[in-house]
Amino acid sequence: MPLDTASYEIPVARSAGDLREAVAGWRKDGLSVALVPTMGALHAGHISLVDLAREKVDRVIVSIFVNPTQFAPNEDFSAYPRTEAEDVGKLEGKADLIFAPNAADMYPEGFSTTVSLTGVTESLEGTFRPTHFAGVATVVAKLILRALPDIAIFGEKDWQQLMVIRRMVADLDIPVKILGGPIMREADGLAMSSRNVYLTPEERKAAGQLNVILRETADAVAKGTPISKATAEGGKRILALGFDKLDYLEVRDAASLAAFQGDKPEGSARILVAAKIGRTRLIDNMPV
Ligand code: PAF
Repeated sequence: MPLDTASYEIPVARSAGDLREAVAGWRKDGLSVALVPTMGALHAGHISLVDLAREKVDRVIVSIFVNPTQFAPNEDFSAYPRTEAEDVGKLEGKADLIFAPNAADMYPEGFSTTVSLTGVTESLEGTFRPTHFAGVATVVAKLILRALPDIAIFGEKDWQQLMVIRRMVADLDIPVKILGGPIMREADGLAMSSRNVYLTPEERKAAGQLNVILRETADAVAKGTPISKATAEGGKRILALGFDKLDYLEVRDAASLAAFQGDKPEGSARILVAAKIGRTRLIDNMPV
């Protein structure tokens, strides 16, 4: 399939071959390349990653692929917003190439390989979405190996995902530098997410308080409150806001995501939360 240059202002590669050809052309000219993997439904958080990429390299690829293998059967794969034309519009003047393959191109018949990690995937999101990180690691490995960029950039909002990808790239000797981009927040501090569109106005109001409780819980831990006491208190406050279910509110080692012995943080710590309100599951995190 030739590169699609007719649909949008930015050329779109729909197959690995087209993507590789475009990248090979840039490489011949000695240009550096970044990949920003996304599932589309782009918001200012994604755009900040693209802007970060632009500062670092000569050419920026944004991939748009709603990856079926990272959704469990009971999750929102079919409802996940798909807004390709709008997404590409938002990338004009920012990205040099869109990579938007279809599922049959990424996972042709007979596809049998999964990249799965132990350790860093085994708690937090891994407890509640046990197949999620194998889906993420597999698709991210494929996207990176297809584009072979110098750097790949991921949002810190999915902090555990970022740690999983760093681990995978190190373990498999994949020659790419992984960068994290800071969480972008709405005026009330709600972490930007493609899933925020699911929130009703009332849920949206409560959701805006999640980051406040996260910050106050992190501050309490930093000032010496035992982790278990601070997170139990924070958890109660989240449920009192109207959240239906708290999956976790935990303070963990920022890189390994291991729990701290002794109920107090050591070295670099991060507080992470996942909670459900209505049909929307929100996650957020910040340094302690
Ligand atoms: O963070 C996301 O949007 C997805 O998990 C990713 C990294 C694009 C893989 O599908």
